[in-house]
Amino acid sequence: MKILVIGSGGREHALVWKIAQSKLVDKIFCAPGNGGIAEIAECVNIKVDDIAGLLKFAIEKKIDLTVVGPEIPLVAGIVDKFQAKGLKIFGPNKFAAQLEGSKVFAKEFMVRNNIPTAKFKSFDDSLNAKDYIDEVGAPLVVKAEGLASGKGVIICSSETEAESAIDLIMEEKVFKEAGNRVVIEEYLEGEEASILAISDGENFVVLESSQDHKRIFDNDQGPNTGGMGAYSPAPVVSENLKQEIAQEILKPVIDGMKKEGHEFRGVLYAGLMITKEGPKVLEFNVRFGDPETQAILPRLKSDLVEIIFAALDGKLADFKLEWDSRPCVCVVMAAGGYPGDYEKNKLISGLDKAKELKDIVVFHAGTKRENGKILTSGGRVLGVTGLGNGITDAIDKTYQAVAKISFEKAHFRKDIGAKAIRRM
Ligand code: AMP
Ligand code: GLY
Repeated sequence: MKILVIGSGGREHALVWKIAQSKLVDKIFCAPGNGGIAEIAECVNIKVDDIAGLLKFAIEKKIDLTVVGPEIPLVAGIVDKFQAKGLKIFGPNKFAAQLEGSKVFAKEFMVRNNIPTAKFKSFDDSLNAKDYIDEVGAPLVVKAEGLASGKGVIICSSETEAESAIDLIMEEKVFKEAGNRVVIEEYLEGEEASILAISDGENFVVLESSQDHKRIFDNDQGPNTGGMGAYSPAPVVSENLKQEIAQEILKPVIDGMKKEGHEFRGVLYAGLMITKEGPKVLEFNVRFGDPETQAILPRLKSDLVEIIFAALDGKLADFKLEWDSRPCVCVVMAAGGYPGDYEKNKLISGLDKAKELKDIVVFHAGTKRENGKILTSGGRVLGVTGLGNGITDAIDKTYQAVAKISFEKAHFRKDIGAKAIRRM
């Protein structure tokens, strides 16, 4: 069968890499793809928000299954459009995608369905928002309602900072209409973890846990990024805790969506804070995480395409996922300047040497191929990923591979996985 993967990051490279291992698959297209994806799929130059263009392509090429990487097309309703033309596509519909597309929708949905999350209030007026800040006091978290590429969340340790955040989002409109409304919420303390599940609308399977590293610098310092690395499993999520998360968080989402008439079919990603009082939801995403997917998929032994079809056909109830028990670590190598303005078109060397190493795979994110060379083209450039016998071995092997690769002003965190070691 023919598969179309939408997206161009490390997550999509990992998806294409895993899908290519399926016996069911003859041909993979990726729109728009990147320099690494081009080695295993045919990249087509259609942007992820060009839904009409993607639809036309899928019809013309008789695509059997479309897998959506990023949130933008999901929130824009790509699933509804493909389904209306009888095409199979994996992801939630436009209504269900609001869980990620609108933080106000997500928070209100959590309240309606008794899902543990930080206390909050939402505002469409900056003066009222500031009154509330005075009333409850810092520390606080101010969040733009809409999609802002992970940058719309501002942690505020004082009331003044929180008021500036309101000005930035609601008056200066730095996130444009994504900042028409804000959510102001209680600051939660604890360790973060990501739990992803795949649902068929009624049943769901929980993937192995993982942990992202959102800040740019070691020891979680500096500004937030799209994610500087990940590892799986995350020992902070014990087997008991995983059960609790499934019952108290994931199941109420799937049941709640069904009750509201919009079955959630696709990936449900819960970004969690594991607090002293138990797990609480920081955010929901309605797609695979990036870079969590790069650390999870190398551990998945089952056929991803079979899982996706089981989800689309409502047959996940009896599906058992098989996993490689070895931990996996993904270290993101970023371009000079990232997460601010970054440099592009730097030659990447050493990829072949890294590839020769056992249990290592280098997922490309911001790369492009030109005259047989691989150049940087984005902020997060590569996700160097390794499996090991134990977390320390996985970390060592992955950093050995990182050391083989270079491009001008490359930078990366040196402490990916350190929290897992601390829990041993
Ligand atoms: P979000 O996009 O909502 O997941 O937020 C991005 C990051 O901000 C999270 O991964 C956390 O590190 C942090 N964050 C968000 N909400 C809170 C909160 N209520 N308390 C503490 N940290 C938070
Ligand atoms: N790793 C964070 C995200 O995918 O949104």
